[in-house]
Amino acid sequence: MIITCGNTKGGVGKSTLAVQLALGLHLAGDSVWFVDGDKQGNGIGAMTLRTDRQLPTLPSSSYVDGKTLRAQVMLQAKQFAHTVIDVGGRDTGALRAALLCSDIVLIPFQPRAFDTWALADVAAVIDEANGTRATPVLALAVLNCADPVGSDNADAIEATQEFPQMELLQLTPERAGIGRRKAISHASATGLHVSEYKPRDEQAINEIDTLISVLKHRLDGIAYQSN
Ligand SMILES: Nc1ncnc2c1ncn2[C@@H]1O[C@H](COP(=O)(O)OP(=O)(O)O)[C@@H](O)[C@H]1O
Ligand SMILES: [Mg+2]
Repeated sequence: MIITCGNTKGGVGKSTLAVQLALGLHLAGDSVWFVDGDKQGNGIGAMTLRTDRQLPTLPSSSYVDGKTLRAQVMLQAKQFAHTVIDVGGRDTGALRAALLCSDIVLIPFQPRAFDTWALADVAAVIDEANGTRATPVLALAVLNCADPVGSDNADAIEATQEFPQMELLQLTPERAGIGRRKAISHASATGLHVSEYKPRDEQAINEIDTLISVLKHRLDGIAYQSN
């Protein structure tokens, strides 16, 4: 299946979660292709660090032009169980192109007012893509860098209810989203899956594992529907 980590806003955790998703699926034994659609290249940079560290790597490509990205993904994604696409914040061209060829768009957002306002822009881009897609893209908003306490998580989650184009991806009934965790940010920045990062952070590992299993569950649902 093809999953894009996308948001029109930068700094929300698209690259961080794209790297964790791709590595998590890869380390679980699935064939995964990582596609970086951001000219900043944070995602592919992280993957390259694995080669430098002589860790098992996965095929990665970089297409900064939206049309090329879409054409290449449509051509090559069938060779892999999963394709994970990381797109840049500002470049809605790449996001639009990725939305046209993805089964799922995972939209990280943080419990901050600017992030929840940006969801309106994301919703507009999704509407536009859905206008030309045969079936609507499954758009899943995931709270990232959740606060340990306070009401901001709940407020941000409530803001997603305004947008029928997207669904809130609740990790577990008790867990609203992915916490702000050093292990997640450091692991991604150094090309590691959170389970490879030391010191081990069991909470962080659990959150990323849960994200992957919840997504896989949704992917199975799509495969079932399309059969
Ligand atoms: N769950 C998290 N916990 C801690 N830091 C995070 C988390 N997600 C992202 N970050 C940090 O937030 C910053 C922006 O993340 P990044 O993935 O580069 O965002 P984007 O790709 O959306 O621009 C980075 O410094 C990253 O390490
Ligand atoms: Mg990024």
